[in-house]
Amino acid sequence: MKGVVLAGGLGTRLYPLTRITNKHLLPLYNKPMIFYPIRTLVRAGITDIMVVTGGHNAGDFLRLLGNGRDFGLTRLHYAYQEREGGIAEALGLTEDFVGSDRCVLILGDNIVEDDISEFVDRYARQPRGARILLKEMPERSHLMHLGVPAFENGRIVRIEEKPAEPKSPYAVTGIYMYDSDVFGIVRTLEPSRRGELEITDVNNEYIARRSMEYDVLPGFWGDAGESIDQYMAVMQYVAAHWSNGGSGEQP
Ligand code: DAU
Repeated sequence: MKGVVLAGGLGTRLYPLTRITNKHLLPLYNKPMIFYPIRTLVRAGITDIMVVTGGHNAGDFLRLLGNGRDFGLTRLHYAYQEREGGIAEALGLTEDFVGSDRCVLILGDNIVEDDISEFVDRYARQPRGARILLKEMPERSHLMHLGVPAFENGRIVRIEEKPAEPKSPYAVTGIYMYDSDVFGIVRTLEPSRRGELEITDVNNEYIARRSMEYDVLPGFWGDAGESIDQYMAVMQYVAAHWSNGGSGEQP
């Protein structure tokens, strides 16, 4: 199983903080944001990882992460996204790296408390298709900024991106598991109204093929790039719960 961490995009929702640096390099408590999603993958036993980034600060990722020694790795792979073409476009850049293997994709601004190993194991046993992780969100105001699934008889029948009327209380988190069919699907996508190749369109194609499964995360999940308020809320959660006597260790 390969791992992919996305750290491109402009991070405009965190302007002016992100005018001169990449969102995923901003601090979250005592570590740069991107440390947390990388750790989430490594904790699940995924050690073959590609980081996709772009823009003017790509070199800073090399200086910060190097070969991944902070995570007990001996090598990290990198890809460069030349424009902000969307999450699905960034995933497409990893095709040669993932090859015929499967991958766990995590967005570089997603902060997760749970050890996702059991979900990755379930996916490894799943004969084909994709698997996503959902999180129940008590506040509807969040859901309108995220992907939200609609259910029929316990199965996801559609995901709506940033819906005005969310059809369920669940957010689609930025942790996605795909087989290598995903690259063929990415090639069929058309840019959305915001000019991006949308990961929600990829997921809806798997749903149409009836090969999308899901799990629900029990612990804390936050999208630190959703807004400046969410960035602060996630930072406060990390400081309060994961400071571990100042070491700042994610569980
Ligand atoms: O966090 C979960 C949400 O992430 C999901 O609920 C949504 O369905 C999904 O579309 C996504 O929504 P966002 O609006 O949060 O996506 P955003 O544009 O902020 O991009 C998320 C990450 O992907 C970000 O950390 C950087 C990376 N990215 C984004 C774009 C547009 C890239 O690497 N390249 C890109 O071109």
